Amino acid sequence: MAASAPADLLSQIRVNGAVPRHVAIIMDGNGRWAKDRMLPRPLGHRSGMKSVREVVEGAIEVGVEVLSLFAFSQENWQRPATEVSALMSLLEEYIQREADELDSQGVQVVMLGELDRLPAAQRAAVDRVMKQTAKNSKLRLNLFISYGARAEIVRAARTLAAEVAAGRLKPEEIDDALFAEKLFTVGCPDPDLLIRTSGEQRISNFLLWQLAYTEIYISSVLWPDFDRRELYGAILDYQNRDRRFGRVPA
Ligand code: FPP
Repeated sequence: MAASAPADLLSQIRVNGAVPRHVAIIMDGNGRWAKDRMLPRPLGHRSGMKSVREVVEGAIEVGVEVLSLFAFSQENWQRPATEVSALMSLLEEYIQREADELDSQGVQVVMLGELDRLPAAQRAAVDRVMKQTAKNSKLRLNLFISYGARAEIVRAARTLAAEVAAGRLKPEEIDDALFAEKLFTVGCPDPDLLIRTSGEQRISNFLLWQLAYTEIYISSVLWPDFDRRELYGAILDYQNRDRRFGRVPA
Protein backbone atom coordinates (compact mmCIF):
# COMPACT_ATOMS: atom_id res chain seq x y z
CA MET A 1 0.00 0.00 0.00
CA ALA A 2 1.31 3.49 -0.85
CA ALA A 3 2.31 5.67 2.10
CA SER A 4 -0.31 8.32 2.94
CA ALA A 5 0.43 11.88 1.84
CA PRO A 6 1.03 14.45 4.60
CA ALA A 7 -2.21 16.25 3.64
CA ASP A 8 -4.25 13.06 4.23
CA LEU A 9 -2.61 12.51 7.61
CA LEU A 10 -3.21 16.15 8.54
CA SER A 11 -6.93 15.82 7.68
CA GLN A 12 -7.12 12.68 9.82
CA ILE A 13 -5.43 14.49 12.74
CA ARG A 14 -8.04 17.28 12.43
CA VAL A 15 -10.91 14.76 12.34
CA ASN A 16 -9.55 13.03 15.45
CA GLY A 17 -9.47 16.33 17.33
CA ALA A 18 -7.24 16.52 20.39
CA VAL A 19 -3.77 17.61 19.32
CA PRO A 20 -0.83 17.34 21.76
CA ARG A 21 -0.14 20.82 23.14
CA HIS A 22 3.52 20.05 23.73
CA VAL A 23 5.62 17.66 21.62
CA ALA A 24 9.20 16.86 22.70
CA ILE A 25 11.70 15.12 20.43
CA ILE A 26 14.99 13.33 21.08
CA MET A 27 16.61 13.72 17.65
CA ASP A 28 18.78 10.63 17.31
CA GLY A 29 20.54 8.77 14.53
CA ASN A 30 22.51 11.47 12.71
CA GLY A 31 25.77 9.56 13.16
CA ARG A 32 24.33 6.30 11.85
CA TRP A 33 22.72 8.09 8.92
CA ALA A 34 26.14 9.47 7.95
CA LYS A 35 27.89 6.13 8.54
CA ASP A 36 25.40 4.33 6.27
CA ARG A 37 26.52 6.71 3.50
CA MET A 38 30.20 6.57 4.43
CA LEU A 39 30.08 10.29 5.26
CA PRO A 40 31.67 12.05 8.26
CA ARG A 41 29.35 12.36 11.28
CA PRO A 42 28.99 16.17 11.04
CA LEU A 43 27.27 15.71 7.67
CA GLY A 44 24.64 13.65 9.46
CA HIS A 45 24.05 16.55 11.84
CA ARG A 46 23.90 18.99 8.93
CA SER A 47 21.33 16.82 7.21
CA GLY A 48 19.38 16.76 10.49
CA MET A 49 18.83 20.51 10.22
CA LYS A 50 16.27 20.06 7.45
CA SER A 51 14.32 17.68 9.67
CA VAL A 52 14.25 20.45 12.29
CA ARG A 53 12.68 22.74 9.67
CA GLU A 54 10.17 20.01 8.74
CA VAL A 55 8.98 19.42 12.32
CA VAL A 56 8.73 23.15 13.07
CA GLU A 57 6.52 23.66 10.00
CA GLY A 58 4.56 20.49 10.73
CA ALA A 59 3.97 21.55 14.34
CA ILE A 60 2.66 24.93 13.20
CA GLU A 61 0.30 23.28 10.69
CA VAL A 62 -1.11 20.88 13.28
CA GLY A 63 -1.50 23.55 15.96
CA VAL A 64 1.04 22.27 18.50
CA GLU A 65 1.77 25.04 21.04
CA VAL A 66 5.23 23.97 22.24
CA LEU A 67 7.89 21.96 20.39
CA SER A 68 10.93 20.90 22.45
CA LEU A 69 14.01 19.59 20.63
CA PHE A 70 17.01 18.01 22.38
CA ALA A 71 19.83 19.46 20.27
CA PHE A 72 22.92 19.10 22.47
CA SER A 73 23.22 17.34 25.83
CA GLN A 74 25.70 18.07 28.61
CA GLU A 75 27.18 14.64 27.84
CA ASN A 76 27.73 15.74 24.21
CA TRP A 77 30.56 18.06 25.39
CA GLN A 78 32.58 14.85 25.79
CA ARG A 79 32.40 13.97 22.08
CA PRO A 80 35.56 14.50 19.99
CA ALA A 81 36.48 18.20 19.74
CA THR A 82 35.91 18.21 15.96
CA GLU A 83 32.33 16.99 16.38
CA VAL A 84 31.58 19.45 19.22
CA SER A 85 32.95 22.26 17.10
CA ALA A 86 30.88 21.12 14.07
CA LEU A 87 27.73 21.05 16.20
CA MET A 88 28.45 24.53 17.58
CA SER A 89 28.99 25.88 14.05
CA LEU A 90 25.71 24.29 12.95
CA LEU A 91 23.90 25.93 15.85
CA GLU A 92 25.19 29.34 14.80
CA GLU A 93 24.43 28.64 11.14
CA TYR A 94 20.91 27.45 12.01
CA ILE A 95 20.22 30.68 13.88
CA GLN A 96 21.69 32.84 11.13
CA ARG A 97 19.78 31.09 8.36
CA GLU A 98 16.45 30.52 10.09
CA ALA A 99 15.95 33.41 12.54
CA ASP A 100 14.08 35.71 10.14
CA GLU A 101 11.93 32.89 8.74
CA LEU A 102 11.07 31.61 12.24
CA ASP A 103 10.24 35.16 13.27
CA SER A 104 7.94 35.66 10.27
CA GLN A 105 6.23 32.32 11.01
CA GLY A 106 5.43 33.59 14.53
CA VAL A 107 7.81 31.19 16.29
CA GLN A 108 9.24 32.14 19.67
CA VAL A 109 12.67 30.53 19.97
CA VAL A 110 13.80 29.72 23.50
CA MET A 111 17.15 28.07 24.22
CA LEU A 112 17.32 26.13 27.47
CA GLY A 113 20.31 24.62 29.24
CA GLU A 114 23.66 25.63 30.70
CA LEU A 115 24.13 28.35 28.08
CA ASP A 116 27.13 29.83 29.93
CA ARG A 117 29.18 26.94 28.55
CA LEU A 118 28.62 28.00 24.95
CA PRO A 119 31.46 29.75 23.08
CA ALA A 120 30.98 33.54 22.80
CA ALA A 121 29.78 33.55 19.15
CA GLN A 122 27.11 30.94 19.80
CA ARG A 123 26.07 32.62 23.03
CA ALA A 124 25.61 35.91 21.19
CA ALA A 125 23.60 34.23 18.39
CA VAL A 126 21.38 32.48 20.95
CA ASP A 127 20.70 35.75 22.80
CA ARG A 128 19.96 37.49 19.49
CA VAL A 129 17.36 34.99 18.25
CA MET A 130 15.66 34.79 21.64
CA LYS A 131 15.37 38.58 21.73
CA GLN A 132 14.23 38.83 18.09
CA THR A 133 11.43 36.27 18.51
CA ALA A 134 10.42 36.97 22.13
CA LYS A 135 7.05 38.52 21.23
CA ASN A 136 5.88 35.62 19.00
CA SER A 137 3.15 33.25 20.12
CA LYS A 138 2.20 30.92 17.24
CA LEU A 139 4.63 28.19 18.37
CA ARG A 140 7.18 28.12 21.17
CA LEU A 141 10.30 26.29 19.98
CA ASN A 142 12.38 25.11 22.93
CA LEU A 143 15.89 24.17 21.83
CA PHE A 144 17.75 22.32 24.57
CA ILE A 145 21.46 23.06 24.33
CA SER A 146 24.07 21.92 26.87
CA TYR A 147 21.15 20.44 28.77
CA GLY A 148 20.90 17.60 31.28
CA ALA A 149 17.75 16.87 33.27
CA ARG A 150 19.48 15.73 36.47
CA ALA A 151 21.54 18.93 36.55
CA GLU A 152 18.32 20.90 35.97
CA ILE A 153 16.67 19.18 38.96
CA VAL A 154 19.76 19.73 41.16
CA ARG A 155 19.78 23.40 40.16
CA ALA A 156 16.09 23.74 41.13
CA ALA A 157 16.73 21.99 44.48
CA ARG A 158 19.63 24.35 45.21
CA THR A 159 17.51 27.42 44.41
CA LEU A 160 14.77 26.25 46.76
CA ALA A 161 17.30 25.29 49.48
CA ALA A 162 18.82 28.78 49.29
CA GLU A 163 15.37 30.35 49.71
CA VAL A 164 14.72 28.14 52.75
CA ALA A 165 18.17 29.00 54.21
CA ALA A 166 17.43 32.70 53.73
CA GLY A 167 14.16 32.30 55.65
CA ARG A 168 11.99 33.26 52.65
CA LEU A 169 10.42 29.81 52.25
CA LYS A 170 9.32 26.99 54.56
CA PRO A 171 10.21 23.39 53.51
CA GLU A 172 6.53 22.40 53.74
CA GLU A 173 5.65 25.10 51.20
CA ILE A 174 7.61 23.22 48.51
CA ASP A 175 5.26 21.28 46.24
CA ASP A 176 5.20 20.05 42.60
CA ALA A 177 4.07 23.42 41.27
CA LEU A 178 6.75 25.42 43.09
CA PHE A 179 9.45 22.94 42.06
CA ALA A 180 8.36 23.18 38.40
CA GLU A 181 8.73 26.96 38.59
CA LYS A 182 12.47 26.53 39.20
CA LEU A 183 13.03 24.40 36.08
CA PHE A 184 14.14 25.78 32.69
CA THR A 185 10.67 24.92 31.35
CA VAL A 186 8.84 27.27 33.71
CA GLY A 187 5.58 28.38 32.10
CA CYS A 188 5.40 25.46 29.61
CA PRO A 189 2.84 22.67 29.93
CA ASP A 190 4.48 19.25 30.40
CA PRO A 191 5.06 17.37 27.12
CA ASP A 192 2.05 15.30 26.01
CA LEU A 193 4.11 13.35 23.49
CA LEU A 194 7.79 12.40 23.43
CA ILE A 195 9.20 11.15 20.13
CA ARG A 196 12.59 9.46 19.94
CA THR A 197 14.00 8.59 16.55
CA SER A 198 16.39 5.82 15.43
CA GLY A 199 14.68 3.06 17.40
CA GLU A 200 16.50 3.69 20.70
CA GLN A 201 14.27 3.20 23.75
CA ARG A 202 15.85 5.54 26.31
CA ILE A 203 15.12 8.93 27.89
CA SER A 204 18.84 9.86 27.98
CA ASN A 205 18.60 12.48 30.74
CA PHE A 206 15.98 14.56 28.89
CA LEU A 207 13.18 16.31 30.84
CA LEU A 208 13.07 13.70 33.63
CA TRP A 209 10.68 15.75 35.78
CA GLN A 210 8.46 16.96 32.94
CA LEU A 211 7.94 13.55 31.25
CA ALA A 212 6.13 12.00 34.26
CA TYR A 213 2.88 11.37 32.33
CA THR A 214 4.07 11.82 28.74
CA GLU A 215 3.16 9.34 26.01
CA ILE A 216 6.29 7.92 24.37
CA TYR A 217 6.56 7.17 20.64
CA ILE A 218 9.65 5.44 19.27
CA SER A 219 10.28 5.88 15.55
CA SER A 220 12.74 3.60 13.80
CA VAL A 221 13.56 6.38 11.31
CA LEU A 222 16.97 8.06 11.65
CA TRP A 223 16.66 11.78 12.42
CA PRO A 224 17.83 13.10 9.00
CA ASP A 225 15.04 11.03 7.38
CA PHE A 226 12.37 12.22 9.82
CA ASP A 227 9.89 14.48 8.06
CA ARG A 228 6.42 15.96 8.43
CA ARG A 229 4.78 12.66 7.50
CA GLU A 230 6.62 10.90 10.34
CA LEU A 231 5.57 13.65 12.76
CA TYR A 232 1.95 13.32 11.71
CA GLY A 233 2.17 9.53 12.09
CA ALA A 234 3.39 9.98 15.67
CA ILE A 235 0.57 12.42 16.44
CA LEU A 236 -2.04 10.06 14.99
CA ASP A 237 -0.65 7.27 17.15
CA TYR A 238 -0.86 9.60 20.19
CA GLN A 239 -4.49 10.40 19.39
CA ASN A 240 -5.35 6.72 19.72
CA ARG A 241 -3.79 6.41 23.19
CA ASP A 242 -5.85 6.16 26.34
CA ARG A 243 -4.22 8.61 28.77
CA ARG A 244 -5.16 7.78 32.35
CA PHE A 245 -2.60 9.63 34.49
CA GLY A 246 -2.65 6.72 36.96
CA ARG A 247 -6.44 6.80 37.31
CA VAL A 248 -9.10 4.35 36.08
CA PRO A 249 -11.29 5.24 33.06
CA ALA A 250 -14.48 7.17 33.89
C1 FPP B 1 22.05 12.68 17.93
O1 FPP B 1 22.56 11.88 16.90
C2 FPP B 1 21.97 14.08 17.52
C3 FPP B 1 22.72 15.09 18.06
C4 FPP B 1 23.69 14.87 19.14
C5 FPP B 1 22.64 16.48 17.56
C6 FPP B 1 21.33 16.96 17.05
C7 FPP B 1 21.60 18.08 16.10
C8 FPP B 1 20.90 18.34 14.98
C9 FPP B 1 19.69 17.64 14.60
C10 FPP B 1 21.36 19.37 13.98
C11 FPP B 1 21.42 20.74 14.49
C12 FPP B 1 20.13 21.29 14.92
C13 FPP B 1 20.00 22.51 15.40
C14 FPP B 1 18.69 23.00 15.86
C15 FPP B 1 21.15 23.42 15.50
P1 FPP B 1 23.84 11.00 17.17
O2 FPP B 1 25.04 11.78 16.74
O3 FPP B 1 23.88 10.56 18.60
O4 FPP B 1 23.57 9.79 16.21
P2 FPP B 1 24.05 8.27 16.40
O5 FPP B 1 23.39 7.75 17.64
O6 FPP B 1 23.56 7.60 15.16
O7 FPP B 1 25.55 8.28 16.49
